[in-house]
Amino acid sequence: MGEVTTIPPVDEATGTTGPERSPGDDAMFESLARQARVLDAMAATAAGSSGDAGLGWLALQRQAERYLRNLDARARGRALARWGERLAEHRRVLHDHRAEARQRLSDVPGGTDTAQRRHGLRVALIGKGGAGKSMISGTLARVLARRGHRVLAADLDTNPGLAFSLGVPTSSGALPDEAIETDPGAAYGWRLASGTSPAQAVERFATPGPDGVRFLALGKIDDPDKTAPKRSLVALLEVLLGFGDPSWDVIGDLEAGPTTPFERYHAFADQVLMVVGPAWRSAMTARRLLPLVADVPTIVVANRFRHEPDHPGLAPAVRIPFDADVADAERRGVAPIDACPDSPAVQAVNHLADLLVAPGEADVRRFPGARSEVTP
Ligand SMILES: Nc1ncnc2c1ncn2[C@@H]1O[C@H](COP(=O)(O)OP(=O)(O)OP(=O)(O)O)[C@@H](O)[C@H]1O
Ligand SMILES: [Mg+2]
Repeated sequence: MGEVTTIPPVDEATGTTGPERSPGDDAMFESLARQARVLDAMAATAAGSSGDAGLGWLALQRQAERYLRNLDARARGRALARWGERLAEHRRVLHDHRAEARQRLSDVPGGTDTAQRRHGLRVALIGKGGAGKSMISGTLARVLARRGHRVLAADLDTNPGLAFSLGVPTSSGALPDEAIETDPGAAYGWRLASGTSPAQAVERFATPGPDGVRFLALGKIDDPDKTAPKRSLVALLEVLLGFGDPSWDVIGDLEAGPTTPFERYHAFADQVLMVVGPAWRSAMTARRLLPLVADVPTIVVANRFRHEPDHPGLAPAVRIPFDADVADAERRGVAPIDACPDSPAVQAVNHLADLLVAPGEADVRRFPGARSEVTP
């Protein structure tokens, strides 16, 4: 936490002054205020839309649930001790939105089922380095886009890979200066500009790619301080977490290993794909990562297997085989879906898309430790 401000803020509700706020506290309150703005806007959209069979209400419900999961995971320790009441108040706001959304959804005949089918995906890919996260993220994004989905694909790895597997002719894709602003309390001192909503950021700043996929990334490392990714990290996470538009699929390709799941880069996701290769160490990494994402339903995706057996306790929902054409596409710098659209690995990613889009119609084996309900 940074320096403490000298003037205690007046609590708008009670007119009294509370504990002194540090820049970090201010940043946290700004995040909570942004969450409230996002939910209010989604509630207004849901209330104003007719004939969408409850899709807007389901979007609101899911957005409130993502925020609740994140609040449960993050509001611990010092922040909770200092601001317990304010956080409890925010939790009530999230609960109220979720309760209203559920109620409205239950009033729509057949609403829940129809809306579930139509709601866009929110998928985060994690796993050991080289497991195939970027190949699968990029190919999945393109497969979904070719089916007519609107897809936002985000590279959350400072060592970029997604642009290549997507076939986006850029390795930048960072949010521009006008989308971010300084905030001494935010990690690295920058955040999403307060006048820009997550939806506006996607609309205005995501780079268009093949099949209409839109791309955002942390940006290039141009100097030893990693200035560009540090400037855009918090803003990009805010965009993903706050982008609840149910007519979009969102796919996030996370950096290998435990740091990014620990920092909750997957907070935007309704589903985590744990990518596991045939090597023993890939399975070991997966087992270490699972507890870090235990609040989000997770499925295991096996990749690059030839004839090796599944890892004990990590039964995959989908198996993507080792595919020499995919490896060759990588060497040529061509997206797999452009280089070898009919190859077995790309076909398996198509099957993965089937499973994600219509889970009821496919045999999904969820990791037994995953919880799908948010604790009230
Ligand atoms: N099914 C497959 N068959 C053959 N090669 C594959 C397959 N999947 C991925 N590869 C290749 O394996 C390498 C690693 O894949 P990829 O870059 O997608 O992994 P990653 O998990 O994103 O790695 P990193 O952690 O470094 O970001 C790439 O060269 C890719 O082309
Ligand atoms: Mg990668």
